[in-house]
Amino acid sequence: MKGIVLAGGTGSRLFPLTNVTNKHLLPVGDMPMIYYPIKKLIGVGMEEILIVTGTNHMGDVVSLLGSGKDFGCRFTYKVQDEAGGIAQALGLAENFAGGDPVAVILGDNIFKMGLQQAVANYPGSGSQIMVKQVHDPDRYGVAEMDGDQIVSIEEKPSKPKSDYAVTGIYFYDAEVFDIIKTLKPSGRGELEITDVNNEYIRRQQMVYSVMDGWWTDAGTLESLRVANELATADPSDF
Ligand code: G1P
Repeated sequence: MKGIVLAGGTGSRLFPLTNVTNKHLLPVGDMPMIYYPIKKLIGVGMEEILIVTGTNHMGDVVSLLGSGKDFGCRFTYKVQDEAGGIAQALGLAENFAGGDPVAVILGDNIFKMGLQQAVANYPGSGSQIMVKQVHDPDRYGVAEMDGDQIVSIEEKPSKPKSDYAVTGIYFYDAEVFDIIKTLKPSGRGELEITDVNNEYIRRQQMVYSVMDGWWTDAGTLESLRVANELATADPSDF
């Protein structure tokens, strides 16, 4: 399995912190934010890791990370020309994946647990998402569950059907790239990862696991502050 870190977007919710740098280079605890997803992937033995980011700060991302030698992995870089959504960014990874399954982490998702259990749980084909109970589900993709099945996912619903947020950690087989090619832009003009996940649900090719330990994104001032507090008080496992 290969690893993918999606680190695009404009970081507009963090202006002016992100006027001259990429959100994923901001500090969380004692490391740049992007170190967290990278170290999670390396922690489960991934040696090939793709970083997708926008044109604005690609140079700084490469300056920070280099070839991967210092991390014990090999980095490949891909540029996302415009902020066209998570699924569009993932679509750039088709050649990199080369038919293998991929573990995908959104670069602003910071969490406690290592991915050992999640990797063991992934059946090797189809898809797997990780969900987490939150107090503000309307900020996320929200999973509607029936026993051990996910019935549907709604992106930022005004009336969430559960309090389980879909976290930004996803496992997919190579079918994902054909699914992405069928997507249409959402109301916010992006190719939505939630539409990818709903297609896997429709095909009955999705499993989920509930994430242990703390989890947050770090895309707003408040959640960046929370990420710093959590990563300092109870350091992340890799
Ligand atoms: C994205 C996904 C959403 C998911 C979240 C996790 O939201 O669209 O389904 O719950 O990441 O961080 P966005 O960061 O684009 O608002």
